[in-house]
Amino acid sequence: MKTVISEPDCVSIQAAEHIKKLLAEKPDAVIALSVGKSQQGLFRRLAELYGEKMISFSKARFFVITELVGAEQEKSYRYAFKSGLADKTDISAEKCFFPDMDNYEQLDEKIEELGGIDLAVLGIGVNAHIGFNEPATPFDSRTHIQKLTNATRRQLADRFGGEDSVPEKGITLGIKTIIRARDIIVLAFGDEKAEAVFRMVYGRTEPYIPASYLQIPISVTAYIDRAAGAKL
Ligand code: GLP
Repeated sequence: MKTVISEPDCVSIQAAEHIKKLLAEKPDAVIALSVGKSQQGLFRRLAELYGEKMISFSKARFFVITELVGAEQEKSYRYAFKSGLADKTDISAEKCFFPDMDNYEQLDEKIEELGGIDLAVLGIGVNAHIGFNEPATPFDSRTHIQKLTNATRRQLADRFGGEDSVPEKGITLGIKTIIRARDIIVLAFGDEKAEAVFRMVYGRTEPYIPASYLQIPISVTAYIDRAAGAKL
């Protein structure tokens, strides 16, 4: 795993350049995206690049990596992806796939049918989850429904006006689904992520540290700010 540590703005710029390079080489790339606070700067930068005609998403296919079961529309990841990125660019609605209760069992097949994931863009939870693959998720997990840990529900409390209002379950692309991507980037900001980032890079590869599975794929780049990289 390669780690690139810089100032927060540079982290988003570098991640955007990574995506720009991929789409220049393969305009119809399949991109799986986590949609959290960590992706907000990236989305802003990608929208800017689109405005400057430096990038086009019109042929790209997107899978949003997670969804919350039972979240109202404005609090869903589908909405965050659409309002944060899709509506500001030429992303084509029919090329976007969102996990839901009706389709999640077919999503891995859909990904295979489209040729597999070219790039997975991840964040990391304070408990080192990736997507909603919480500690103890098996390595060979495919897209599934996941009971959320208290740590994760606390992380999402702001968005829902309190931990008790955060849905209890999420849907997530599985570890195996994510790990098979041909290229992976991870974004992390702030000192609250420093321990999780340390465990992702140096932790023993085991189910209690889902992000430690990212030590296995050949092509993984972690773009992190100085605070998140403080323990490396
Ligand atoms: C959330 C999401 C993940 C996200 C991670 C970090 O719970 N399910 O996909 O990458 O936790 O979130 P954030 O970037 O908001 O800190």
